[in-house]
Amino acid sequence: MATRKKVLLGCTGSVATIKLPLLCEKLWEQNVDVRVVVTERAKHFLKEAELPPGTQILSDTVEWAAWQDRGDPVLHIDLVKWADVFLIAPLDANTLGKLASGICDNILTCVARAWDPMKPLLFCPAMNTKMWEHPITATQVNSSIL
Ligand SMILES: Cc1cc2nc3c(=O)[nH]c(=O)nc-3n(C[C@H](O)[C@H](O)[C@H](O)COP(=O)(O)O)c2cc1C
Repeated sequence: MATRKKVLLGCTGSVATIKLPLLCEKLWEQNVDVRVVVTERAKHFLKEAELPPGTQILSDTVEWAAWQDRGDPVLHIDLVKWADVFLIAPLDANTLGKLASGICDNILTCVARAWDPMKPLLFCPAMNTKMWEHPITATQVNSSIL
């Protein structure tokens, strides 16, 4: 029997995060395992009650609570090992800028910074057209970490 693909879904502080329940449903229909990492700003757009039952939402709060002493799990590293695919959808302008410069100051950016380049990292930018058309956007989208 084929093993189920493991998809790690990353959500940032774009209003498009309201579509997360729909995205999760579509992924579940593909018979894949899904876990979700969110930034603190993404939480504002997230309605956990609308997510498919059992969807794991992982945030800085969960990560920092999980580590109390030596031997405890470092969640962002465990997630890098767990996932076959990292899909950041939506990727907002702020986190795009962080990823392009290697900043890793939350669970989502730490996963991206530790990501295994042999595994796919997909991203779906979501921002106002004025932000998208700023010249820095193309430079960052084409950066080597992405
Ligand atoms: C109502 C609202 C909607 C927003 N939508 C977007 C968006 O679609 N794309 C974007 O790049 N930023 C958007 N922002 C700005 C981000 O939330 C902001 O840059 C935030 O610091 C991102 O944090 P994060 O990257 O850690 O999630 C929005 C802000 C507000 C208040």
